[in-house]
Amino acid sequence: MPRRLFITTALPYANGPFHIGHIMEYIQADIWVRFQRMQGHEVHFVGADDAHGAPIMIAAEKAGLTPDEFVARIGAGRKQYLDGFHISFDNWHSTHSDENTVLSQDIYRKLDRAGLIYTKPVEQFFDPVKGMFLADRYIKGECPKCGAKDQFGDACEVCGAVYSPMDLINPYSTLSGAKPELRTSEHYFFRLSDPKCVAFLNEWINQPGRLQPQVANKAREWLEGEGDKALGDWDISRDAPYFGIPIPDAPGKYFYVWLDAPVGYLASLKNYCTKRGIDFDKLLADPDTEQLHFIGKDIIYFHTLFWPAMLEFSGYKIPDNVFVHGFITVSGEKMSKSRGTGISPLRYLDIGMNPEWLRYYIAAKLNAHVEDVDFNPDDFVARVNSDLVGKYINIASRAASFITKHFAGELKYAGDTGPLMQGARASALLVRDNYESREYGKAIREIMASADRVNQEFDASQPWLLAKDPAKKDQLQDICSRVLHGFRLLTVLLAPVIPNTARRVAREFFGMDRDFVWSDAETLPSRVNAYQHLMTRVDPKQLDALFDMEPETPKVTAPATPAAAPAPAAESSATISIDDFAKVDLRVARIVKAEHVDGADKLLKLTLDIGSGTRTVFAGIKSAYDPAMLEGRLTVMVANLAPRKMKFGLSEGMVLAASGDAPGLYLLSPDSGALPGMRIK
Ligand code: MSP
Ligand code: ZN
Repeated sequence: MPRRLFITTALPYANGPFHIGHIMEYIQADIWVRFQRMQGHEVHFVGADDAHGAPIMIAAEKAGLTPDEFVARIGAGRKQYLDGFHISFDNWHSTHSDENTVLSQDIYRKLDRAGLIYTKPVEQFFDPVKGMFLADRYIKGECPKCGAKDQFGDACEVCGAVYSPMDLINPYSTLSGAKPELRTSEHYFFRLSDPKCVAFLNEWINQPGRLQPQVANKAREWLEGEGDKALGDWDISRDAPYFGIPIPDAPGKYFYVWLDAPVGYLASLKNYCTKRGIDFDKLLADPDTEQLHFIGKDIIYFHTLFWPAMLEFSGYKIPDNVFVHGFITVSGEKMSKSRGTGISPLRYLDIGMNPEWLRYYIAAKLNAHVEDVDFNPDDFVARVNSDLVGKYINIASRAASFITKHFAGELKYAGDTGPLMQGARASALLVRDNYESREYGKAIREIMASADRVNQEFDASQPWLLAKDPAKKDQLQDICSRVLHGFRLLTVLLAPVIPNTARRVAREFFGMDRDFVWSDAETLPSRVNAYQHLMTRVDPKQLDALFDMEPETPKVTAPATPAAAPAPAAESSATISIDDFAKVDLRVARIVKAEHVDGADKLLKLTLDIGSGTRTVFAGIKSAYDPAMLEGRLTVMVANLAPRKMKFGLSEGMVLAASGDAPGLYLLSPDSGALPGMRIK
């Protein structure tokens, strides 16, 4: 039975371009969506910009634009990213839209009728110059505890004290600099604490299979909180001026952005239905329509409490699943929204990196848990080059050349193909289950294990020898056919991840007039066209460009040339005991400063941070390194070497580098994540 799936990703704030975290979320959802489409299910996959709220209003003002113009500009920039990374949304819309106004107001009215809306006065800071109420993040002042200046309204970055903005000494508005005044205004609340809400949420959260166990636990914790952790009602109104949707019959009051944001899921679906001539109300009301949201771990609260309750008590369909992912980090570091560090998705595309590399890499690292995913440049190069290209793509080029040259493209299988088909079916089943449960990493591992088997079988048959012996032509055709069947199977299984390559393989290589569907995993191909280049390897220089580093940054400690191969074991000195080794205190060190030394032609003066303090070391690495490129990087030092007085000063240790017979010197680096002072043992 085909399923009907309404699938969304979180709606990104329209205050800036997409960052790599957004792209990761879209890739996760898009793989799932494409997988479901390949199974023959009906999928409606929609997204939208989350356009409302004070930060966007303020960002627009700074840019000299009206909020409408501002969010329209951001919206216009989305397509290049979505197309660029092959994200197959059926529709992209905005919460700043007629559909969203109508739907949000409708939901609100129904909640009101259900007795879940009330008003109460709220006292809050007001900026008399701007004429607006201020969210806490727009107030700064002196810390009431330690007196540090310019601290935010919630906590002191200097002493760590936590307080309310009302406690700040000499508070000021960060928007105008004015001294804020306390004013009272009437706010609208959603009665989340109502017993019927609590009872409903209890049931919704605990429905088996609804939420990941970790997510359900979190939601339960919030729901069952007591005392000052008790589930409170939700303040859903903001006073004018605000960029948002007016609350019906409440002049000067707007919905808080998080009320109309998730309604944007429905608004985008409605907008799409109108364009496609689909009956929106019917589609959404149909109990067979499954509603699924992909989101990140920071917005669980909204999606597992407010959103299902809003829908339930306004009579709309409630979400079937909320799929939560962790965050993407880059070389172990959190991305900061404000600093915009990490990887720029546009730069990735601009420098000609293949979007399918990133899709593959993210897929290989994703699982169904709420775990962070680290983008590690070396790991990225290794997985793409040795797995995706080395194991998968290469199968096609190797086997096809024989088939093209000797058999005019025709595939022929000698003997029983039963076991071949059985193997294919088993593999496809396993991979299917892993995609379905969002265990993409497991799916990729299974696919690569199959690729290994195909390569081994091919190598074991020594096709280059078969090709030389006219008596073995049939054998050659058989093995190449089996291997190309394997390649086709692998392509079907990888199609959700690398859709563009899969399309080319289907149409150009196997000459089909359509894209692959999942059931193609169960059939045998009968011919192939000549192999056309499908995918290049990553050039590590591209990663340097991606991170905007100098292309020549020395990175690896392995010898660069064959001539510099490690000395054979026999030449090594006699063995030592572990206790001997333990005498050497090896530490991770950060090079905080690297300088030329007047009068020294081999030495650089390094200042090393080893956690407990700094050390000065004179290192003979001048021939291989420009000091400017060393600053900031991690290396390894011998920390308990007796200090040595040199002509230029005292050297308090030694850094480690590899070298061989050929010229070249390679400083050691720990894997990312290591910290200065860590012991190497
Ligand atoms: N506008 C809200 C969502 C409203 S949904 C009705 C919002 N926007 S956001 O732009 O900040 O985030 C959009 C999505 O990106 C969220 O699911 C968020 O978790 C995700 N990510 C933000 N940073 C991320 C990473 N570093 N890694 C992965 N996903 C990240 O929240
Ligand atoms: Zn303080």
